[in-house]
Amino acid sequence: MLNQKNVNLGKVRSSIRELFEYGKQRKAEIGEQNVFDFSLGNPSVPAPAEVKEALKDIIENTDPVALHGYTSAQGDYSVRKTLANYINARFKTELSADCIYMTCGAAASLAITLNALLNKGDEVITIAPYFPEYKVFTENARGILVAVAGKMGTFGIDIHNVKNALSPNTKAVLINSPNNPSGVVYGEEDIAALANTIAEYSAAHGTEIYLISDEPYRELVFDSDIKAPYIMNYYPRSIVCYSYSKSLSLPGERIGYIAVNNQMEEWKEVYAAICGAGRALGYVCAPALFQQLVKRVYNVTADISVYKRNRDRLLAALTEYGYEVIKPNGAFYMFVKSLEPDAKRFAERAKQFELLLVAGDDFGTEGYVRISYCVSPQMIERALPAFKALADSYKN
Ligand SMILES: Cc1ncc(COP(=O)(O)O)c(C=O)c1O
Repeated sequence: MLNQKNVNLGKVRSSIRELFEYGKQRKAEIGEQNVFDFSLGNPSVPAPAEVKEALKDIIENTDPVALHGYTSAQGDYSVRKTLANYINARFKTELSADCIYMTCGAAASLAITLNALLNKGDEVITIAPYFPEYKVFTENARGILVAVAGKMGTFGIDIHNVKNALSPNTKAVLINSPNNPSGVVYGEEDIAALANTIAEYSAAHGTEIYLISDEPYRELVFDSDIKAPYIMNYYPRSIVCYSYSKSLSLPGERIGYIAVNNQMEEWKEVYAAICGAGRALGYVCAPALFQQLVKRVYNVTADISVYKRNRDRLLAALTEYGYEVIKPNGAFYMFVKSLEPDAKRFAERAKQFELLLVAGDDFGTEGYVRISYCVSPQMIERALPAFKALADSYKN
């Protein structure tokens, strides 16, 4: 008998992937230009020129045996040291190389961190809307995901909901900002209130609760007055799961890291558990060539001006057509209120206009759809009449 849970995970595609596959089929039928595929979060801008230059230089000037060989399980020391120094300079932390564990992107960072922290039955609180894989990763680490609704209307953190969800079994609170799917960036007030709430609860109940920040979109913040606070500055028992997938447009290369806050008493134990979980999950080490790459381009970001332009255009047009949209300040997603109570039916109806939108139900929030606007500005222009026609179809 096979592990049925995994058979099901393998057979039942996520509805995002399902929609993406439908889009491919539809494009073959009616032409690429005529399908408005807003389903996937695949960066649409190329990796910055610095990436190509650095890769060429590394390949030409490094001994290939050393370059392509295994690194230490936690990652090359000089890479980790460079990243720790950069984080320290940027966020006023005091991390050492031994706080950094190199990973195959944010998905691996999360899977390893959750496996490191959780015992059977431990609970992980997250804020809806949330990335659907959180449930898969948490359950695979034998934990239980407890999703609480974000603030209605803004999708910030609703502290009352978090307070109500805290229990003696809470092992971690997992947040994601800038957020997939809402594009919301949690402000300083949100983060400080969350940190205080968790700290108070754990002090009163004698429990240890970790704050995990999933940050593949940290660099994708559009407006200079919007800042994504660094959780290590607010809460000692914190862990950052970072990735270069979106900031450098390298999702297929699988590179990121986990940073453990050394302001918590037991940080060396936590780091050891992370090394152990990475080992048990069979990761061996993060891609060696891309470790060397991020050592060189750690402070470079892809040209995100296209995402900002897409956001501004869509936000203005959809609002004009009568949609209710939460203004996204980061990432490349927009969460739009469905024009009928059932967002799945709304997304089905959108297909009649060749618009591929993901129902918010998959992100733990009903009544909304997600638009991934990491697409060309030309596609946005072509899609606008379809958005208008969809909205008009509800007026008749
Ligand atoms: C919120 C969130 N977390 C994690 C990931 C996984 O990112 P990575 O490609 O770095 O594994 C994604 C990818 O879309 C995401 O949106």
